[in-house]
Amino acid sequence: MNAGGIVLSLCDRTGTMVLPWIEAGYSAITVDLQPAPREHHRRHHIVADITQWRYPAHLPRPVIVFAFPPCSHLAVSGARWFKGKGLGALIHALQVVDACRRVCEDSGAPYMIENPVSTLSTYWRDPDYTFDPCGYSDPYTKQTCLWVGGGFVMPEKVQIGDLFAEPTCVEPVLGSAILNFSPTADRADTRSITPPGFATAVYRANAGRV
Ligand SMILES: C[S@@+](CC[C@H](N)C(=O)[O-])C[C@H]1O[C@@H](n2cnc3c(N)ncnc32)[C@H](O)[C@@H]1O
Repeated sequence: MNAGGIVLSLCDRTGTMVLPWIEAGYSAITVDLQPAPREHHRRHHIVADITQWRYPAHLPRPVIVFAFPPCSHLAVSGARWFKGKGLGALIHALQVVDACRRVCEDSGAPYMIENPVSTLSTYWRDPDYTFDPCGYSDPYTKQTCLWVGGGFVMPEKVQIGDLFAEPTCVEPVLGSAILNFSPTADRADTRSITPPGFATAVYRANAGRV
């Protein structure tokens, strides 16, 4: 199953983050409360609550870990609704983040935990990196924060107009992801899909080192 090693991605429904790794011969485990929208023979998707889940002891350690805990009760953009949601929602949101952090740190592997600009900076610590998807070829803005560890390498952005490098920065012609998606039932899911250009950039920056 694991010719190139196992890549683990938590709170990941689509598996967009692990796709470049799968295509390069790695195997992936993704964990999410929701089923995966599609199957892939080298992706094993586990429907589970991350606060109750443990990495299987019989498997080799993952080579890298990604985590995308939900931001609904943490994102600064939703601050006006915090009081109405109550303490329980905040506590649960932080428990999910902490469960992701635990799996990431226990893995001993490079890891990144993703969230938008959020109250995590107050409750936990400042993020190590921030980026917009348009910095990595995805043509929209959504300011995104990363908390990283274990030697995770943040991919370089290459500015438009740099003659000697493959450009990764593109104009955000689609505008802001926060504002642009229509108010359908799956709006939150659509809006939170990992930007594929960023996933590829992370693969390129880290695959040679894991
Ligand atoms: C911000 S979205 C991340 C989506 C991801 N970027 C993707 O491309 O699928 C958060 C995800 O966390 C999942 N989730 C929420 N609570 C969870 C929990 N307790 N355990 C596991 N997954 C959870 C949601 O179903 C959702 O898919």
